[in-house]
Amino acid sequence: MTKLLLSLHVLAAIVAVGPVTVAASMFPPAARRAHEDGTGAGTLRLLHRICRVYSGIGVAVPALGVATGAAMGVLGDAWLTTSIALTTAAAAVLVAFVLPRQDELLEELAERGGVERRNTARLAMFTGVFNLLWATVTVLMVVRPGSTTGA
Ligand code: HEM
Repeated sequence: MTKLLLSLHVLAAIVAVGPVTVAASMFPPAARRAHEDGTGAGTLRLLHRICRVYSGIGVAVPALGVATGAAMGVLGDAWLTTSIALTTAAAAVLVAFVLPRQDELLEELAERGGVERRNTARLAMFTGVFNLLWATVTVLMVVRPGSTTGA
């Protein structure tokens, strides 16, 4: 059962977090290009949709992670508590900053036919913070510092 939960947890991380990372990272440069040549709004909307839909699917990652941790009896371990905190922070950055700012840039593009460079730079910064947070969690998941099951 633990192996099944862990497999599903890792599968969910690959299927959900992967697309969000790629689409969110492509969004700021795509928004800048849309600014330059006046086209590309369709691409931007698609990238935003991928981020939104796969963020929803991504809820499965911590849910299955907690189920795996419970099955293994490691929920109280420091590496896991830290991972849960960092995952929560990553989700908060995504929901509170990345997705709304993508929305704002789409509106700005529709209303003004372009977006300001400092707005795409700010979005790129929040996207970078999101990527850094979940990448840190992935390292913690593999190394598991202080755990006897650690690599
Ligand atoms: C609430 C958040 C999370 C919890 C409670 C959690 C829990 C767990 C647990 C208990 C394991 C098994 C570790 C072991 O075999 O000893 C695991 C493995 C793993 N988790 Fe998570 N996880 C969370 C978030 C994430 C996130 C956000 C990612 C990546 C995006 C991730 C990626 C992985 C990977 C790749 C493994 C396999 C590591 C290995 O077996 O070497 N997890 N997780």
